[in-house]
Amino acid sequence: MRISISEIKEMKEKGEKIPMLTAYDYVTAKIVDAAGLPLILVGDSLGMVMLGYETTIPVTMEEMLHHTKAVARGAKQALIVGDMPFMTYANRDQALRNTARFIQEGGAQAVKVEGGESIAETVKCIVSCGIPVMGHIGLTPQSIYQLGGFKARGKTVEAAKRLLKDAQILEEAGAFAIVLECIPAALSKLITQRTSIPTIGIGAGIDCDGQVQVISDILGLYTDFVPKHTKQYAKLAEGMKTAVAEYATEVKAMSFPTMKQSYTMDESLLAEISTEVS
Ligand code: KIV
Repeated sequence: MRISISEIKEMKEKGEKIPMLTAYDYVTAKIVDAAGLPLILVGDSLGMVMLGYETTIPVTMEEMLHHTKAVARGAKQALIVGDMPFMTYANRDQALRNTARFIQEGGAQAVKVEGGESIAETVKCIVSCGIPVMGHIGLTPQSIYQLGGFKARGKTVEAAKRLLKDAQILEEAGAFAIVLECIPAALSKLITQRTSIPTIGIGAGIDCDGQVQVISDILGLYTDFVPKHTKQYAKLAEGMKTAVAEYATEVKAMSFPTMKQSYTMDESLLAEISTEVS
């Protein structure tokens, strides 16, 4: 049985931490699912770590759906959250049309949107149609040009009060959880205490109800930029490079393939073919 929204909310009530990771393809989703993570985010970070864009801004609905479908084929237990790309929820009609596509076509069970009070009415509207919504405040990469870069947020009293208010407004609007990205740990703790829905931190300290990371970061696969908030649990890029170089060396040296990787044929058949063809 797939994890439900109420089970995610119950985890906060029970004080059980919520681990979440991104996944963008079938194979990775299967691994994350088998490891027992309750939440998978098909993040628009795929634009950077899978497609090589410099920001998440160019990511389209079609690209998100393509990857969400693959993740949904691989993950059968985790609740899959589809990340709404830039400008696909700018008005309510658009938001409803596009969130519905994530659920109907993509196979996600929930969506994530960036923003606080300014998108509260949109969140209400999506939730009223039966689609669970995860909020996302703090460093919101889709507003990078307005924010002036990938910097931590909520560091002044005014900004911190604004974020606390945004979190409470999102809760009132019906969001089932909120991502807190790159904000001071003490502020996340306060937001976590003052909201009854789970907070999922990324660069937001230990006191959030859960944590989310980009899988390519924790596996050491995406190395263009290593965020301060990540920890590399593996160095897959290095491992892959070594394996690829070894393969190329063996092909050149004719030590790959060996008979173990080859198919055999009866010698008498070969003789027959050679005679007939010549
Ligand atoms: O797109 C993404 O992966 C995200 C996470 C960093 C929260 O939004």
